[in-house]
Amino acid sequence: MIMRHAVAAVLLPALLAAGAAVAQNAAPDAAPQIGQVSKDSVWVPTPERMIRRMFQMADTTRDDVVIDLGSGDGRMPIYAAKHFGARGIGVELEPNLVRVSLAAARAQGVSHLTEFLQQDLFAADLSRATVIALYISPGVMTRLKPRLLALRPGVRVVSHHFTLEDWESDETIRVENRTGYLWVVPADVRGRWRVSLSGDEIVVAIEQKHQMLATSGSRGGRPVNVIGARLRGTEISFTAFDRDGNSRQYRGRVDGARMAGEAAGDGAAPLAWSAVRE
Ligand SMILES: C[S@@+](CC[C@H](N)C(=O)[O-])C[C@H]1O[C@@H](n2cnc3c(N)ncnc32)[C@H](O)[C@@H]1O
Repeated sequence: MIMRHAVAAVLLPALLAAGAAVAQNAAPDAAPQIGQVSKDSVWVPTPERMIRRMFQMADTTRDDVVIDLGSGDGRMPIYAAKHFGARGIGVELEPNLVRVSLAAARAQGVSHLTEFLQQDLFAADLSRATVIALYISPGVMTRLKPRLLALRPGVRVVSHHFTLEDWESDETIRVENRTGYLWVVPADVRGRWRVSLSGDEIVVAIEQKHQMLATSGSRGGRPVNVIGARLRGTEISFTAFDRDGNSRQYRGRVDGARMAGEAAGDGAAPLAWSAVRE
């Protein structure tokens, strides 16, 4: 038995990475087997410590709707409900795993906070999600990436092991030699913004790739340093220089074609600022 588990531990990551070769739904009443094959991945559960750290990294609360795409035995939605008070939704193709998920949710007293849908994850409605959880396969991550990027800014995506390629994670954790990733869906801030602060106006041009920003600024047609721009969901920050040459740290929130927030200077009281996209 120990030998079988050791072999499984070596083989399963490779199986997951390759994606499952054969689609064969397990019978609804079959006992789930670690490594059982499904359409886009095999079933391998995520350890509880990793699940906790992933949801902590996503700042999960009772206001969240967590959707696990490929939910296996339901442990992620159940954990999100039981320990974070969130609504947990599992999307799983295999009927035997949906059956054990429903039973586990009942046994752990979170049926009222959880739902399990027997469905292909590519057909799942993600519109309610504020947190998406994943432990699936590289191929699925590639296919999901454009859909994830199109979700509401601020939605968090957490993944055990698999990355989203050139969309760099906002945070990474290591738990028991495994890696977990967090992405926060970035607001679209590309373009030229007129930034006003206490009668002063600068124009900030922003180029964007995912959450990474490149900025340039001007005041009355003359260049102004705008540096260190960062974006996390709808929260933006950057440093720009006043007319008198003092730097100010701008922090604010993006709401479509507007931004607003406060700018703190060295020893100076914070001032309100706002911006509109040209
Ligand atoms: C690696 S397991 C992860 C299970 C669970 N999320 C966890 O972390 O413990 C991936 C799960 O995705 C399911 N799956 C594979 N392809 C799927 C698809 N196209 N739609 C829905 N579920 C799928 C598998 O049956 C398996 O249970």
